[in-house]
Amino acid sequence: MKKLRSQNWFGKQGKDGFIYRAWMKNQGFPSDEFQGKPVIGICNTWSELTPCNAHFRELAESVKRGVWEAGGFPLEFPVMSLGETLIKPTAMLYRNLASMDAEESIRANPIDGVVLLGGCDKTTPSILMGACSVDLPTIFLSGGPMLTGKYRGKDIGTSDVWRFTEAQKKGQITQEEFFQAEACMCRSRGHCAVMGTASTMACMIESLGLSLSDNAAIPAADSRRKMLAQLTGRRVVEMVKEDLKLSQILTREAFENSIRVNAAIGGSTNFVIHLLAIAARIGTDLELDDFDKLSIDVPLLANLQPSGKYMMEDFYYAGGLPSIIKELLPKLHKTAITVTGESVESNVSEAECFNRDVIGSLDKPFKNDSGIAVVKGNLCENGAIIKPSAATPELMVHTGKAVVFEDIEDYKARIDDPKLDVDETCILVLKNVGPKGYPGMPEVGNMGLPKKVLDKGVSDMVRISDGRMSGTAFGTVFLHVSPEAAAGGTLAIVQSGDLIEIDVPNRKLELKISDDEIANRKLQWKAPDLGYKRGYVQLYINHVEQAHVGADLDFLKGNSGSTVNRDSH
Ligand code: FES
Repeated sequence: MKKLRSQNWFGKQGKDGFIYRAWMKNQGFPSDEFQGKPVIGICNTWSELTPCNAHFRELAESVKRGVWEAGGFPLEFPVMSLGETLIKPTAMLYRNLASMDAEESIRANPIDGVVLLGGCDKTTPSILMGACSVDLPTIFLSGGPMLTGKYRGKDIGTSDVWRFTEAQKKGQITQEEFFQAEACMCRSRGHCAVMGTASTMACMIESLGLSLSDNAAIPAADSRRKMLAQLTGRRVVEMVKEDLKLSQILTREAFENSIRVNAAIGGSTNFVIHLLAIAARIGTDLELDDFDKLSIDVPLLANLQPSGKYMMEDFYYAGGLPSIIKELLPKLHKTAITVTGESVESNVSEAECFNRDVIGSLDKPFKNDSGIAVVKGNLCENGAIIKPSAATPELMVHTGKAVVFEDIEDYKARIDDPKLDVDETCILVLKNVGPKGYPGMPEVGNMGLPKKVLDKGVSDMVRISDGRMSGTAFGTVFLHVSPEAAAGGTLAIVQSGDLIEIDVPNRKLELKISDDEIANRKLQWKAPDLGYKRGYVQLYINHVEQAHVGADLDFLKGNSGSTVNRDSH
């Protein structure tokens, strides 16, 4: 085993070594814990303000058990935690800040290997981005999904938030029933129980080769989650001995595998923005177009909400992600190395499918359309995305009149106005919800339909914005338009009444006005005053990049390694 990084602290002679060891001894650790044992940092996004991660202190104890057993020395530390449901104005505003916390906490401390504990949507990409910029031996443990919700004899999950809201808007359920549904939906520890962003992120981790098998789908409340935590603790100690770092696992092949797996599971559109940011941190070339090219021949195998019927709990019992990966092997880089030290193929050699209704096969997929389509045109020169499996097939080729909302407040003020000139053939356009414009790129792209359209029994319309969409949402929704309106993209000058042409099979999204008119309107356009003058938000606005490259801060891309040359004492 090469010299442990932690010995640059605990193995020192003289005053510095005295200080590093003495203050650790106040926790009751004997000297031999510091002598030659791999120190494993457990990077914990536990917080009671992140309900999906509220069980993580317990999970960390199971990780520690595994680390002790394998001869390591575990030390748990907190980092900024982002609770999707509580943080205002949007957790995405702080993803990059949380990644800085994770990066600096890992590098600055006497850590030889890391276990990352993430669950709720942004906690997973943020700490992985930070860890990539340090590049130590690192393994991920996800928190696991909630048990399936039960409401009046029916299975429910997070995607039902949208259904309950529309049913209440239409007067189909009472306020009392609406309240009851809340507790029925979130009835156990864990993150959202559908293939929303958190489950997508957990699958991303497993398909990149960054966790042990089954990490994505074991429910948080299932005792096998704790077993996995213990095994993860054991394994990271071995990874330190093998010096198996993130950069050896996160190769171009691993990213390609993950994109294909994401297509097969009908993963969230947020996968795109986070994977691009992760690739840029570790230094692997990845472009927006890769998501379309690599997923085009992958059918949808997982029949999971919001694209399908089942929940993450069903997915686990049906065989989970290993079963999908095994089925997809002919389309994957089978020899890509993972945290186990073994290949993707070898990790899933024992995997089986126990329910073909939940997990289809390549011969009999759940749907032929999957993945992410990347469209381009004068309305989105750098691209925009749509998830075909969650959209209405009849709307994939469509021309309609734009109904424009200048920002989310304008949308909220007018969407249900009976005088709004809109019908189901129109295209709802929402501006200024991009990375800079909101700021923070909230999940409002799947804006609800106008009441007068809903009243006709219509459940989908084309919607376009520079924002994101919740992984639990569905509809014919074009997202991540780049450049965004606040950066002067063509989206900024769309007016109500303009015609917009959509052609997903040909990957086109066009504003049907002349180039001269576009240029003329752009000359009249003035950048909005976003009103932030100080602090992190101003730093974010000044440095955030556009969605098509991952919306990271420009100065955070890349990797500074794990070396720290100076002692402070
Ligand atoms: Fe945390 Fe959905 S709100 S995962």
